[in-house]
Amino acid sequence: MKRSIIVGNWKMYATSIADAHILATTIRNKVAPVIGIEVVLCPPALWLPEIKNILGDNKKILLGAQNMAYEEEGAFTGEIAPSMVAEMAKFCIVGHSERRQYFDESDQDVNEKVLAALKHGITPIICVGERKRQNNAAEPTRQLAAALYHVPKKYFKDIIVAYEPIWAIGTGENAEPEYVAKVAVKLRELLHTATPILYGGSVKGSNIAGYAERPEIDGVLVGGASVRAAEFIEICRVWSNSKNFKS
Ligand code: 13P
Repeated sequence: MKRSIIVGNWKMYATSIADAHILATTIRNKVAPVIGIEVVLCPPALWLPEIKNILGDNKKILLGAQNMAYEEEGAFTGEIAPSMVAEMAKFCIVGHSERRQYFDESDQDVNEKVLAALKHGITPIICVGERKRQNNAAEPTRQLAAALYHVPKKYFKDIIVAYEPIWAIGTGENAEPEYVAKVAVKLRELLHTATPILYGGSVKGSNIAGYAERPEIDGVLVGGASVRAAEFIEICRVWSNSKNFKS
């Protein structure tokens, strides 16, 4: 059966440990019984150990980092080494458009991070997406090809790709599921049949069903709605119900 993956990118929200604790505990309690889905929470890096404790050995809800360095170690003030992420998390978001835009991450940086993540047994969640609304998949496909440069094909099952058009992020203007499905088909040409392809951009409880209905889309990467516990829980439930999973 194809995987269904729901990722919550908390970005730089849940800015107190108390808020992060409540959010993770509520999600854990309410999402653990939802069947058929894999959930990845990506809190701010400083909260990873605390939330790892809260999730314990829960097999369904796992942890991801939002970013990491590709160097092994060294004089890189403020950076987080891949081995540090690997001790805390199974996943790491790589190449998010906010990193590309505000922290000047290049395609080459993203590629180095993908290689470093795989080397350390971390599943990279590679984000790609065009800045302005377009009617073709040229830019996300180009970004994905660059991110996968020199990545051996045998690793393609061990990555996740998230199509996140920048115009849809945080704007309330989510991309139409049919359009996302078309882009996913194009991205799939560069990937393994088992590589999960997610959609991200203004996903919420009221629009998630449209994505769940498309077999080309394997899950979602949720930003703003992932730090509102009730909304995130609703997204997980609606996805599971739409797929009609049986326990
Ligand atoms: P929003 O869900 O807030 O649009 O953010 C999407 C995103 O950037 C997830 O990584």
